Amino acid sequence: MEATALLAGVAGLKEPETTMGGVNLVSGFRPELWRSIRPDGAPDRLDGFNSPIVGAEGYQMPSTQHDLVLWMAGGSYDIVFDEARAVLRSLVNLAHVATEVSGWPYGHDRDLTGFIDGTENPSLLDAASVALIPDGRPGAGGSVLLLQKWQHDVRAWESLAVPEQERVIGRTKPESIELDPKPPASHARRTDQDVFGKIFRRNVPYGGVTEHGTLFVGFCAEQEPLRRMLESMAGIPDGVRDDLTRYSRPLSGAYYFVPAVDAIRGFAPDSR
Ligand code: HEM
Repeated sequence: MEATALLAGVAGLKEPETTMGGVNLVSGFRPELWRSIRPDGAPDRLDGFNSPIVGAEGYQMPSTQHDLVLWMAGGSYDIVFDEARAVLRSLVNLAHVATEVSGWPYGHDRDLTGFIDGTENPSLLDAASVALIPDGRPGAGGSVLLLQKWQHDVRAWESLAVPEQERVIGRTKPESIELDPKPPASHARRTDQDVFGKIFRRNVPYGGVTEHGTLFVGFCAEQEPLRRMLESMAGIPDGVRDDLTRYSRPLSGAYYFVPAVDAIRGFAPDSR
């Protein structure tokens, strides 16, 4: 009952008469919550981030699963701020905010390591086929989202010379050219899409001058590639940990199902 009310509240946000103008809204639900409302409209084999990932050397990635994520993006922060306040007012009796993070673009397409982030993303033409569940499958048109907040160890990272940073990432810093061969523990090798399958990333820098990092925002039509990449970064398959995990620490970890807009719209209060 509560889950249905929450979904109706979120569906109401998508209606044109509310003031979402100028701001993009992505809403995602804890997979088990969505499945409890739409058993036939949930993707096969999708679970929340329900326990930490424990990898090589006792390394851990925490699980901080929540019921709902709302990602609002727009051209300027004042508009996003006002819209976000309006959204919170609409949902006031349905949900409380467990955590919030504000992101901002850095150097056009770089993350706060200073490297270009997204080079190996599928092109926008191919992104839909990578990120969206195909027609005819449960949850069609929706996407699986992995969201993790990574705090960079700024001092340790900045103490590395550029060639050392490049060996950690597996690409050159100025132009993002892949190293050949990619070092075995490099980030590009540990998440190699030729091994794990393609995903679509929309990472966002966050934080201030002293404490900052990367919000990892990864979409895929299936959970499996995302899950296997995390396990590979943690060194689970072969004991080799991603070198990037020595310079950045995950503070959160959650999976969400992002349904197609049409799948949510049917729950809007005045469409029933
Ligand atoms: C601190 C967090 C992270 C940072 C700063 C970061 C940054 C980067 C950078 C700079 C690249 C190279 C350029 C590119 O191809 O985009 C890259 C590649 C990539 N990253 Fe990350 N990343 C982070 C976390 C993650 C996580 C958690 C995953 C997966 C669950 C991931 C998946 C990938 C993939 C799939 C590639 C492309 C690999 C390939 O096929 O060459 N990243 N990342």
